[in-house]
Amino acid sequence: MLTLQTNLIRAGAFLALCFLITLSCDASASAFAAAEICAPGTAAAASSTAPPTVPTILPNIFDPHGPPARMIHDLSWLVLGICAGLFIVVEGMIFYGVIVYRRKKNDKSKDEPRQVYGSNPVEIAWTIIPLLIVFVLTLTTVRTIRSIELTKAPEGALNVVVIGHQWWWEFRYLDDSFLGGEVIVANELHVPINRPVWLRLESADVIHSWWVPALAGKMDVIPNHTNYTWFNAESEGLYLGQCAEYCGNQHAGMLLRVVASKPAEFDAWLQTQIAPAVNDASVAMGRDIFQEYACSNCHTVKGVSDGQFAPDLTHLMSRQTIASGVTPLDPTTLKAWIDNPQALKPGCNMPSLQLDPQELDAVTAYLLTLR
Ligand code: CUA
Repeated sequence: MLTLQTNLIRAGAFLALCFLITLSCDASASAFAAAEICAPGTAAAASSTAPPTVPTILPNIFDPHGPPARMIHDLSWLVLGICAGLFIVVEGMIFYGVIVYRRKKNDKSKDEPRQVYGSNPVEIAWTIIPLLIVFVLTLTTVRTIRSIELTKAPEGALNVVVIGHQWWWEFRYLDDSFLGGEVIVANELHVPINRPVWLRLESADVIHSWWVPALAGKMDVIPNHTNYTWFNAESEGLYLGQCAEYCGNQHAGMLLRVVASKPAEFDAWLQTQIAPAVNDASVAMGRDIFQEYACSNCHTVKGVSDGQFAPDLTHLMSRQTIASGVTPLDPTTLKAWIDNPQALKPGCNMPSLQLDPQELDAVTAYLLTLR
């Protein structure tokens, strides 16, 4: 009897542990991303430079702001609810058995309790109930997946190609309506609210994963394979996200920012991105250095250089952050970044060009004009 009780307690403890692990894995997925994005140094990037009118929306699967995220949120609660119900019933029966049928103090008998073998009603019940539960979970999961994983762009969608790089994001706006001009930006995706956004996901190197939890679920970004996903931001905000597939040294420094604004504000932003690069004669020295040194091999500034390996800098200063969301973009951080990128983002693919102080000031001054 003692062995039976011990085993029951062990079984109960094991079940409780399993349930807690499942619960924490589901819930902590978003908390984990939030912790990474809000780590010291990046929290500043998230809040201090955001326009005051646009709230920052943290990566939290329990705070959905659009249809795919909401469907995932609802399904998560259904699954958690059913699992919690099962947990309470099973644990309750275990504790009832352990407490009510424990050996009483004055019970000196050496006989085992009456053993019961086989009961058709009980066996039918514990076969049918789990079958029904699995059936419900399967149907709701399949229905949710079918609603989220569309095979073609939603009506009236904004089309954007997302290219994952070690360790930054490239966004190419390809709609015909953009005056025929291809708009290429890095790390900060601007979209209008209440309009579906259809993303074509590609990778330049290794497997990454697109994840902005408040807008939609994860989708892998795979080399030589195109995936698609979509979202529809229902409220204005700066939505934070994170590459969700380990992709090397700076995986944690591959942050995502989606700025959702009113259509008119989005159009205004788009016009600034379509415009050619500012050509300011007062920073000609910096521009010459940019062109002559290795900068131009990797970075595009429309009309100046056409490097493809690194972010397009044509309108660099229209962004709030640098190094894929790692730090806010201002004259100080920009200069520090050009001087030695490895100090800010160890392992990143941008080398220090060992510029002398005069050259460094000139290149920084030039980049600061690229609004
Ligand atoms: Cu890209 Cu992790």
